[in-house]
Amino acid sequence: TILILDFGSQYSHLITRRCREHQVYAELLPCTTKLDELNFKPKGVILSGSPYSVYHPDSPHVDPAVFDLGVPILGICYGLQEMAWNLKGEVTQSDHREYGFAQLQIKRGIEGTSTGVDALFEGLGDEMQVWMSHGDQLAAMPQDFHVVGLTNTAPFAAIAHNSKPFYGIQFHPEVTHSPRGKEVIGRFIVNICKCRTDWTMSGFIDKEIERIREICGPTGRVIGAVSGGVDSTVAAKLMHTAIGDRFHAIMVDNGVLRLNEATKVNTMLNKDLGVNLTVVDASSLFLSRLEGVEDPEQKRKIIGNTFINIFEEEAAKIEAMAEEEEEEGGTQEGKEKKGKVEWLLQGTLYPDVIESISFKGPSATIKTHHNVGGLLKDMKLKLIEPLRELFKDEVRSLGRLLGIPAPLVNRHPFPGPGLAIRILGPVTREQVKILQLADEIYIEEIRRAGLYDEISQAFAVLLPVKAVGVMGDARTYEQVIALRAVQSEDFMTADWYVFPADVLRRISSRITNEVKGINRVTYDISSKPPATVEWL
Ligand code: XMP
Repeated sequence: TILILDFGSQYSHLITRRCREHQVYAELLPCTTKLDELNFKPKGVILSGSPYSVYHPDSPHVDPAVFDLGVPILGICYGLQEMAWNLKGEVTQSDHREYGFAQLQIKRGIEGTSTGVDALFEGLGDEMQVWMSHGDQLAAMPQDFHVVGLTNTAPFAAIAHNSKPFYGIQFHPEVTHSPRGKEVIGRFIVNICKCRTDWTMSGFIDKEIERIREICGPTGRVIGAVSGGVDSTVAAKLMHTAIGDRFHAIMVDNGVLRLNEATKVNTMLNKDLGVNLTVVDASSLFLSRLEGVEDPEQKRKIIGNTFINIFEEEAAKIEAMAEEEEEEGGTQEGKEKKGKVEWLLQGTLYPDVIESISFKGPSATIKTHHNVGGLLKDMKLKLIEPLRELFKDEVRSLGRLLGIPAPLVNRHPFPGPGLAIRILGPVTREQVKILQLADEIYIEEIRRAGLYDEISQAFAVLLPVKAVGVMGDARTYEQVIALRAVQSEDFMTADWYVFPADVLRRISSRITNEVKGINRVTYDISSKPPATVEWL
């Protein structure tokens, strides 16, 4: 295992990614982690970048014991400065922030040392393009280090210790703008740290199934919510594979799902994937609580809270049933099948975990994203999170290995508050129906044109304004649909998608012809920032 200590750089999780791409297992922990509290022995440590300056009084620092672990260390950007700061080097504030491409000249290391160029940049040539993003830089070498790489503006862009396997690099090897950066990370973790390259997804599945069985014991039961999205479906299938019908999935129909979504999910999970699923139709309750509400945060809150109410009711029913069965299960065999509901499954992914482990605390709230996180507060259940080590595309490949059909595995994300945040005015059954039909046509045409997988997220929005149109000889006065499609890596930023005109034309004419109440279709050409992906 490689230990990555996070100083809050926006790129920290990418370091973890690159390690896994080399099939080396890596764990990202806050930089303030005390090393004697670690429950594993790392074979190497990477210190991440950071938005801070090492000389700022509030800036984070690493447990100095890291330099006595006796394992190789790689400092990236702030990590380099942190290493120098600890090992008595001099860091200065640069005159200007350096941000962008630079050409790194690789220098031969000191002959006869194990730590020179031959180790970190072995086989990577004399020069490489790298990505810089920093304010501070080294002004003088820490004691017992030498230069292994420099750029026009950074004389100490890469340094190595004269006798220990300590390295510092000013550039960011983890971003794709450093084309050979992944190889630099590979040299460090494979050649220098000598990590085994055996982390695979199918190995992960086997280990995770074993771990779930161990946690739940022979009789424990687990409940979990599914939404029809990738994460909850993959988590549910994994759970079912591990403990069969002792896992109970619950889907709450909140009345603001996509067209026929509850029925589709029911068929897929129950029939195709064999998962023990209960669908609860609570649409009337949700819609009555949403009546007259226009404020988006209010909509989110109502849906989040109502979801928790319904889920808890259903969970209580399943628990009562389980207890009854447990009492009846007189024979030993019967007992083994039956037991208490002790666990709650959540499809938490690694980026959510990173957000909550970071020493900085979560970033400023722009919109409160509704997740089932609120559930545990009142329930006496323990949490089980089988996907907590994975990134989104890893969850997708896990899903494929578990036999989940490709169209589901590649599905665009859908927000918890559903169509309620895509209906800009008050949410009513009629408005939901209009939006469902328009959205269905939109997605169908995108799939038909073969564009679904190159778009990160596409959906329709129902505007609360009416416009004039003409149909036959008559004047119409009806609502407007806005179409949105974006491409994005992580949804922190997004670009609007450029459709072929004929696809847009077909979508527009189908929507205005087939959806009663709509006489006009517009296409949203705003990027994020300054807009957000959703309209609310
Ligand atoms: P924004 O609109 O914040 O969207 O640019 C970024 C991503 O987050 C999704 N989103 C939500 N997901 N609950 C969710 O589960 C929410 O309240 C919510 N709001 C936005 C959005 O669909 C996009 O993928």
